[in-house]
Amino acid sequence: MLAGMFIAFEGLDGSGGTTQIGLYEAALRSEGRAVRRTREPSDGPVGALIRAQLASGVVGDAVFGLLFAADRRDHLDRVVLPALEAGEVVLTDRYFLSSLAYQSQSLGFDRVWSYNAEFPPATAVVMLDLPVEECLRRVEARGAVRDRFETRDQLERIGAAYEVAMARCAARGDRIVRIDASGPPEAVHARVRAAVWPA
Ligand code: TYD
Repeated sequence: MLAGMFIAFEGLDGSGGTTQIGLYEAALRSEGRAVRRTREPSDGPVGALIRAQLASGVVGDAVFGLLFAADRRDHLDRVVLPALEAGEVVLTDRYFLSSLAYQSQSLGFDRVWSYNAEFPPATAVVMLDLPVEECLRRVEARGAVRDRFETRDQLERIGAAYEVAMARCAARGDRIVRIDASGPPEAVHARVRAAVWPA
């Protein structure tokens, strides 16, 4: 169905997804591959609405669940699928596993699963595994101020939901590649390269 490779990077806040996608993009480009790097929330109109609402919003959790799914539909239709049809490698910073992990906290797993049932699985999901403590250290190191206790609790619950979501997706045949995300970025990148490509 999809001509190109579609790789989604996933993980907890602080697990290094944005750094790793940048290194992976650079490596593929240096080999002369056509790469389309993108992200969710997307840079389209629904993604902009989500970012604004995440920053200081009035909408509730149920609306977020629907907005993330609407953004995903828009992102697929206008960015991801055309790039795949053109044979490009599409790298996305987050995809539907993020909804299954984050929105299921308030909406429950089955409801979020149903919102996301129509979306095609990525060719591979890179799951960056990092202990919550280390995620928190990295988030704090980049200057974000948060209630530490609350955040640890939250990240632990989101991590557990990621596990449930990965098990469900793996059971239907999705390819999920777990990467040890500890250590220097280049070392993690080498693990990603060795594990993901070629499939
Ligand atoms: P993030 O990748 O952290 O964006 P940025 O680096 O620009 O801050 O994503 C923003 C937040 O959105 C992040 O906390 C995870 C959340 N999110 C969801 O809750 N559900 C989703 O489906 C997606 C894609 C993201």
